[in-house]
Amino acid sequence: MSDSRDVLARVEREQAQYLEELKEYIRIPSISTDPDYKGEVLRCAGFLADKLRAAGLTVETIETEGHPLVYAEWLGAPGKPTVLFYGHYDVQPADPLEEWRNPPFEPTEEGDCLVARGTTDDKGQSYTHVKAVAAMLAERGRLPVNVKFLVEGEEESGGEAIEKFVRADAGRKLGCTSVVVSDTSMYQPGVPALTYGLKGLAYFEIRVYGPNRDLHSGVYGGGVTNPLNALCGIVASLRDEATGRVRIEGFYDDVRPLADWERKEFAALGFDEVEQRRDLEGAVRSGVVGYTYLERTWARPTCDLNGIFGGYMGKGAKTVLPAWAGCKVSFRLVADQTPAKIAELLRAHVEKVTPAGVRVEVDYLHGADAVTVDATGPEAEAALSALEDVWGVRGVRVRTGGAIPIVGTFAQVLQVPVLLLGFGLEDDRLHSPNEKFNISHYYNGIRTVVRLLDRMGG
Ligand code: BES
Ligand code: MN
Ligand code: MN
Repeated sequence: MSDSRDVLARVEREQAQYLEELKEYIRIPSISTDPDYKGEVLRCAGFLADKLRAAGLTVETIETEGHPLVYAEWLGAPGKPTVLFYGHYDVQPADPLEEWRNPPFEPTEEGDCLVARGTTDDKGQSYTHVKAVAAMLAERGRLPVNVKFLVEGEEESGGEAIEKFVRADAGRKLGCTSVVVSDTSMYQPGVPALTYGLKGLAYFEIRVYGPNRDLHSGVYGGGVTNPLNALCGIVASLRDEATGRVRIEGFYDDVRPLADWERKEFAALGFDEVEQRRDLEGAVRSGVVGYTYLERTWARPTCDLNGIFGGYMGKGAKTVLPAWAGCKVSFRLVADQTPAKIAELLRAHVEKVTPAGVRVEVDYLHGADAVTVDATGPEAEAALSALEDVWGVRGVRVRTGGAIPIVGTFAQVLQVPVLLLGFGLEDDRLHSPNEKFNISHYYNGIRTVVRLLDRMGG
């Protein structure tokens, strides 16, 4: 473990510039799901490629059917480990726009927080990799390990480009000794974390079709199956409200139970449900028997309605029996559930509970496998020590309810440890208005990556 004082002093001196550079990156509205922003997504990939090149890496922008991948490498340390950094340069849409305090793509400093879309998810977090490597190369002209970057532009929109690329590459270009991802959160302010479990996802749209046109609800009501009523029945049948338990037959068959050591570690974290209730103004499920809050959110599968639509949604009242209705519903999965099997079970369930007089379509929109990684090997130890070097507190091992689809593929194809080394906070409002990233976390993230590389390089 060599000493990092030289580079850390440079980071200290230059941090204001690093922040300005991050702001430039954030100003590019790289919304991957919206075709109107295709040009901006491309421009964002170009920005990142330029910065990696300027830092001294060999860079390649890889065209795909969707948005490009940015690949970069520096392989000047033969015989040393090779770290593959993953991140995503795309962001979620900014709406609802009226709820932002400042324009969503104008990064604004509010105390220690940088507020804008993409600050924490994932530009600010993953740019710590770029600046750490750039600072090390600038200071020393070399790195203690080899590094590769693979940064994608469609993580937020369910794109498959990276999945295809990683599978086709099969560890040739991407061969490495560990993968480092910064797209998760710390346990709480002041307590850094290494995440070892990500949930999977299976996301659906369900549409229910009834009569061939909207009808007068007095003239026809009672005589015709109302698709919106039918949809609500279907939705209600999916889960038991009191326990949150999913009522689809076979849904729990592949669920890997929580290990005793995990339940103990979770309990030892002393999660403060009262504080959580205060933050969310009461909206916390309590009284669920069998699993604690952390166990439910981190390690048990869930079912949530994301949106529901149909019928009259304007002002005032309109008496109408709508011709159709729909909803978006998602399941967060845990190992070893798979989106394909869940899709099959959902279809069978919906068919069983659909009343006569309507036709139902179930579309699978996208998904991801759940993944748990080993957080006990030498790489994980190096990461926990690097966190401790910088934050002064030993990192804790946590899981999360979020999904990062490519992580499971990395683990499977590359067969190396994946370090989920996040610098965000649970209240960063990712995907929400006024998303933020603590500026001190950006700087500490850079320092942590510097320490990690020096520790790995020995
Ligand atoms: N960075 C998040 C995942 C995340 C959030 C991990 C919070 C840990 C803590 C990622 O960008 C994300 O939003 N993933 C999506 C999945 C995707 C298929 C749209 C998610 O979890 O909804
Ligand atoms: Mn993310
Ligand atoms: Mn996200």
